[in-house]
Amino acid sequence: TIRKPVVAANWKMNGSRQLADNLLQQIQESGVDKQLQVVISPPATLYSYIDEKIIQNKLEIILAAQNINELDKGALTGEISAHLAKESGCKWVICGHSERRSLFNESSITTAEKFVKAQSVGLKPILCVGETTEEYEKGKTFSRLTAQIEAVLHIGGKTAFKDCIIAYEPIWAVGTGKPASPELAQDVHRFIRGMISSVCPTTAKSVCILYGGSVTPENAASYFAQPDIDGGLIGGASLIPEKFIEICQTAL
Ligand code: G3H
Repeated sequence: TIRKPVVAANWKMNGSRQLADNLLQQIQESGVDKQLQVVISPPATLYSYIDEKIIQNKLEIILAAQNINELDKGALTGEISAHLAKESGCKWVICGHSERRSLFNESSITTAEKFVKAQSVGLKPILCVGETTEEYEKGKTFSRLTAQIEAVLHIGGKTAFKDCIIAYEPIWAVGTGKPASPELAQDVHRFIRGMISSVCPTTAKSVCILYGGSVTPENAASYFAQPDIDGGLIGGASLIPEKFIEICQTAL
């Protein structure tokens, strides 16, 4: 396949320098970073710390920001621009995680602006999409995803998805221990790839689409076996180095 598997650790507001040290050491010992795209997305205070360790130890881990502001600079206390994230060593950035959308009221338009801003400074965006429990129950999954993807096409244009990652995270599966079935996830991933294909068939073949939502070492293989699932965005299990490495090894 032309799509190299991606396994991304999203620490959310968790972790520490000590956890970073442990995870980096175990990644180095296992060598998984040399075989697939291993991503770590820690809190912003750890970006530079982890970046320096990656360089020192010649690791091939990809550092990703958890969020950026859509603007370049200004009086925005507490915010971090794409430039600052890049300067701290980030190569990728998560855009529109469901927690940003629901807890911080970030719209699909704001998410699309962040996505485009990231690309403009050379950060690869991981666009998160997914439906709420209510939307899922009412059968509105595909229409929700369509709106989220169209917002990016609207602002970024037809070539927007050329250099990015997409992560499907049904909100009802995030941190709940109730993952989507691999078959359901595959159906949704195929739908997403189809949408991309309708604007750019070449991009549709190369874009990695990750599944996120209660992925564990036990269930990871069932997702990675699906033809349109190219990896995972891991929350809870990424805080336990042994579990994260096991998930990475499953993707090989
Ligand atoms: O970004 C990661 C996801 O929100 C999944 O989190 O693995 O704890 O369900 P989880």
